[in-house]
Amino acid sequence: MIERIEFLQREIQEYKFDANNTAENFRLLYLSKKGQITELFDEFKQLEGSEKKEIGLPLNQLKRVAEDIWQNQKSTEEKVNSSTNHVNFDTSLPVYQNQPGSPHPLKIVENELVTIFSTLGFDLAEGPEIEDDYHNFGALNFADDHPARDMQDTFFIGDHVLRTHTSSVQIRELKKGNLPLRLIMPGRVYRNEAVSSRSNCFFHQIEGLYVDENVSFADLKQTLYYFVQQFFGDGTKVRFRASYFPFTEPSAEMDIWAGLDTEENKRLTKGTGWLEVLGCGMVHPNVLESCGIDSRKYTGFAFGMGIDRITMLRYGINDIRDLFINDIRLLNQFKSY
Ligand code: DAH
Repeated sequence: MIERIEFLQREIQEYKFDANNTAENFRLLYLSKKGQITELFDEFKQLEGSEKKEIGLPLNQLKRVAEDIWQNQKSTEEKVNSSTNHVNFDTSLPVYQNQPGSPHPLKIVENELVTIFSTLGFDLAEGPEIEDDYHNFGALNFADDHPARDMQDTFFIGDHVLRTHTSSVQIRELKKGNLPLRLIMPGRVYRNEAVSSRSNCFFHQIEGLYVDENVSFADLKQTLYYFVQQFFGDGTKVRFRASYFPFTEPSAEMDIWAGLDTEENKRLTKGTGWLEVLGCGMVHPNVLESCGIDSRKYTGFAFGMGIDRITMLRYGINDIRDLFINDIRLLNQFKSY
């Protein structure tokens, strides 16, 4: 009998409590009416006097240790059950369905553009939407009284403006002076436009900038040809038209041939078949100089395009406002991206 007492002593001390082995399970196993320690006590009663003396002490000790272990575990369990962050889960309840989101079509197109240019070594950069006049206009060679400022009727916030184009990010990056640089800069821009199916008071642009020694207009054209081929597909026809921007000289606009075969294309291209995609040019020496860059040593090209229009073109979205009302029926269609 003394061996069984010693055995139980070890067993209860090594007892592992968990969700299926609680204080109550422990009690039932050792201390309840049919528990193993209680049974030992029943046997003890039948022993001879001399044996009783020998067994009595260790048996009582075993019982005390078991009761201590049980009490300790019981109060630990009570604490856990009453703690405020304890939740009683009903594991039989049905779970809430997870509704995974989907990327916004504008973001899908933006990511694709960033990827295309990153294969040419363009890094990503971003700038603030609230700008000062200097970064949005002044440093970009807009004269104070130049009519080009009118083209971009602006929202003012005190003495700051909501940027009217992402070209302002060019200035911030050029001023850092880490040349050569090759950057792609997406972001939201704002203009005081009458809202319609074709134009909104905010939209999205992506700006490109490459400044190094010996960068030429040929580099600009080749870069844009590559982009058109990647984004619009092999064999897409392209044309450049001379244009004017204060921050580039010479300046151009690039159109792609969308065709006239559908009513939609006729409408989009105003009957010409050509769709204007971006503005571009060689960075004006005044811009480089205002950022502390030697314009005799460095040249560069820049381009900027609207993301909203090419997104609408790609997905057949006819009203620019549909991009911003967050209608779940539209957004759900982009789940697989
Ligand atoms: N910032 C011009 C706009 O919003 C677009 C543009 C034209 C960006 C020529 C450029 C550029 O970087 O070189 O209309």
